[in-house]
This record gives sequence, structure tokens and C-alpha cells, in this order.
Amino acid sequence: SSSSSSSIPSPPPPPVFLTQDMLKRIAAYKAVEFVQSGMVLGLGTGSTAKYAVQRIGELLQQGKLKDIIGIPTSKKTQEQALSLGIPLSDIDEHPVVDLAIDGADEVDPYLNLVKGRGGSLLREKMIEGACKKFVVIVDESKLVPYLGGSRLAMPVEIVPFCWKFTAQRLQRLFEDSGCVAKLRTCDDNGEPFVTDNANYIVELYFKKDIGDLNSASDSILRLAGVVEHGMFLNMATTVIVAGELGITVKNK
Ligand code: 5RP
Repeated sequence: SSSSSSSIPSPPPPPVFLTQDMLKRIAAYKAVEFVQSGMVLGLGTGSTAKYAVQRIGELLQQGKLKDIIGIPTSKKTQEQALSLGIPLSDIDEHPVVDLAIDGADEVDPYLNLVKGRGGSLLREKMIEGACKKFVVIVDESKLVPYLGGSRLAMPVEIVPFCWKFTAQRLQRLFEDSGCVAKLRTCDDNGEPFVTDNANYIVELYFKKDIGDLNSASDSILRLAGVVEHGMFLNMATTVIVAGELGITVKNK
């Protein structure tokens, strides 16, 4: 029988669909364009930052970057960076960091952030607070009109001693915003999640806007038992947002 298949037009190519993971990688690669040889670099933590660390490792191996010193923001990132052969140090040795690249859970229109779903907020805040330039990399799902507005939790690192008491105090601080405080637990065994600094994390969920962020920050930090919170106010110098329609670079 004669074949007619050659006259059937081939189907149009499938639409290009970028997964969230692809967007994370696009933002990360863009941020690594800011990296120059000789820099002391803060290495972030999480599923977006890991692409930046990977890329930095690749460029070092290819000889396109030289004399980089990485400052990892978590034990996990430390392991990844070591496996890639990135030379590492800390902010005791290098108290001035040229550039840090890290992800975020929420970014508001003023480039204030919520961080810490990965649980590394304390080291991140110490290291990113020591940076000349702090580049945040996100996919567009992380953009929010106000912090606490994504229905994700705002993490607060607390000491384990009488954590219920501290969680209660935190919840009461924000009772006008309908705050609910929950201890973060491990998915596999339900045990408390323990940070790299041997602390616990309380997740704060809000029903309403928490209002002035600086006063919220002050009142959280005044509570004995609190170590640090996940609001990164006025710290990001650049936010790179990868979306379906391309990359947007927002500068402070
Ligand atoms: C870890 C963080 C992460 O940067 C933040 O949670 C974003 O993570 P991801 O890129 O996986 O969405 O603050 O403490």
C-alpha cells in the first residue's frame, strides 16, 4: 500500500515549559556572572543556591575563575563546596565578604526577605550581613506583596531549653496578626529539627500582615531564648528573579 504519511505535516513543537527547578538554575547562573577571580564569596543554602555553588565549582575547574575563597552558610553547602574543590574559609578569617549569593523564601517589593526554610538562617544572616554585595536568586513564585504573606512560615531559631515557653511568647507577641507558632519537626521521624548550631526552629504562621517589620524584628530579638529570625531586612543589594517571561534584576 502506498504511504501517505509523508504528506502529513509534523506536529508543532511542544511549547517550551520551564519548570520551577529550571527557573532556579537560570537565576543562579545569572548571579554567578557577578563573580570575579580573587573574590571571597558567601555560598548560600537551598535548592536554588546549590546551582550557584555548582556553577562556581565548574568555572573553577575550567580555569575560568581563580583564587576564590568560599564561605559556606551551612554544613550542607560546606559538603557540596568541598566535593567541588572550592577552597573554603569563614568570617573569622575573612570578616569582609565581597559577594554572597543565596535563595529566599519570600521577597517583598522593597527587597526585604524571609529566609530559613532550609534552616540555615543564623549562619546566612551572619555571613550575608558581612557582605559588600548580597545577590538573592529566586523564581517568581517567591515574590510577595508583604512578608508573611505567602502562607509559608516565618522561621525563628530558638534555644532548645524550654522551647514551648519561647514558642508561646512568640505566638503572643503577634496575637493581633492571628499568629500560630509551631515547632519544626523532621519529616521522617517527627523529632524536632535541629539546626547546624544545635538549636530548634519555631515556625510562625500569620493570618494578617504583621505591620512594621523593624519593630517586629526588634520585639522577636528581645525575647530571651530567641537566637535569630528569618526576616532579612534591608540586606539584599540585588534580587534576580527568573520567570516564564525572562529574568528581572532588581537593585536596591
Ligand atoms: C535556607 C534558605 C534558603 O535560601 C531558602 O529557604 C530558599 O530555598 P530554596 O532555594 O530551596 O527555595 O534560606 O535557610
